[in-house]
Amino acid sequence: MLELDYTNVLEQTVRTQGIPKVAFDKAAVSSKHVVEDIEKAHAVGKLGFGNLPDDANAVKAVTDFARARQYPNLLLLGIGGSALGPAALDAGLNRPGSGKRLVVLDNIDPDFIRDSLDSISAQDTIVNVIAKSGVTAETMATFAVVRKWMIDAVGDAGARERFVITTDPVKGDLLAIAKQEKYPTFEIPANIGGRFSVLTPVGTLPAALLGFNLEALMEGARKGAAQARKAFFENPALVAAFIQFVLERERGKKILVLFPYSQPLWKFAFWFKQLWGESLGKKIDRRGNEVYYGQTPTAALGVTDQHSQLQLFIEGPNDKAFLFWDVKEFRNALPIEHPFAQFESLAYLEHKTVRDLFQAEKAATEIALTEAGRPNATVTVERVDEEALGHLIMFSQYFTAYAGEFYDIDAFDQPGVEYGKRLTFAMMGRTGFEQYDKKINETRQRERAVIR
Ligand code: PA5
Repeated sequence: MLELDYTNVLEQTVRTQGIPKVAFDKAAVSSKHVVEDIEKAHAVGKLGFGNLPDDANAVKAVTDFARARQYPNLLLLGIGGSALGPAALDAGLNRPGSGKRLVVLDNIDPDFIRDSLDSISAQDTIVNVIAKSGVTAETMATFAVVRKWMIDAVGDAGARERFVITTDPVKGDLLAIAKQEKYPTFEIPANIGGRFSVLTPVGTLPAALLGFNLEALMEGARKGAAQARKAFFENPALVAAFIQFVLERERGKKILVLFPYSQPLWKFAFWFKQLWGESLGKKIDRRGNEVYYGQTPTAALGVTDQHSQLQLFIEGPNDKAFLFWDVKEFRNALPIEHPFAQFESLAYLEHKTVRDLFQAEKAATEIALTEAGRPNATVTVERVDEEALGHLIMFSQYFTAYAGEFYDIDAFDQPGVEYGKRLTFAMMGRTGFEQYDKKINETRQRERAVIR
């Protein structure tokens, strides 16, 4: 089960920076509409992410497809919501010796692309091109480069066998190309946006191709969805959303530090950053008011960042809330054994384990932050496996959706991202985007302030 410990956001622990207990009691009553509104949106088909674990056919389709295609390498072309989820699953679940490698081309630095392609054999690679819109410039450009690379290596027919497309079921050039080239396709349902799509084939197909247990992933997601529909004090996603809403609005915590004490959850934090940032960073609320809402998500890794960012967190500006992601069980304890009892720096560690040290350091960080009046909460799962990740994903999606309800904004659009995409199309001369030329030319002609 997933649990949320919010002791260290209470007024009794972090004093004026915290939230009084009575506010939670009030929210338990006043926030009923939050769960109901998201449920209603699911019931009428406006939202789809919460219903995904019930779609057994979708899971079977990707599992059957993956069973018939056993390649050591999976090359994933996609960006944002079309890449961060699969990358997080891979980081959480892939182990040395699995015989499977995921390479994600979610950046278009040409040297990065070249080096990545040089690091794998095309013969041993299946390529999954993912784009909900089916037109994203980065993904389409990379697709063109990778297609040529593949054809040059294995010929036309060989290349055709090695591409699979994940995109919108009815629109977009990627879908049209897939039909033309007879590439197999998987659908991203229309009511599921990019950053909420990791439990669609965006994430499940790569997971199946990498050999992960999809049944367990979906079982975890199912548990997460059930937990997210419960009453306030049994609902970690709802309470977590309320906490961040209050900390950001009333205690000035403009930054949310995601702080996994788990190396395999590090990329999960990057997936969550997009989910939180793009969903809640909004200029306009649902009533049309200019609000400029949002809490900036950033990530720190336990214990690594104790020796990098923790000084700032404890003594710098008190503008951050902290969310630890913790794990109860590790696959290894790693006993600390040595013949150096005479050395102080090793003596006290003997007969302990690296796991003990790791857990002690997390506890120490929590104490230090709390003492400094820095509100922090902890989300804990039993272990990092498919079920826990499914649960964490669903928890995070509801957490974000509920925060959107507290803010009264549309957490499911991304007008800022779309505007950037349109400017890119115009800069690259795509027909139909000429209306942006004037703005681009003005910018190009602007006198630059540069020092050389
Ligand atoms: O959440 C979103 O919708 C976006 O961040 C997209 O994931 C991102 O822009 C990539 O879009 P697409 O999947 O259409 O290539």
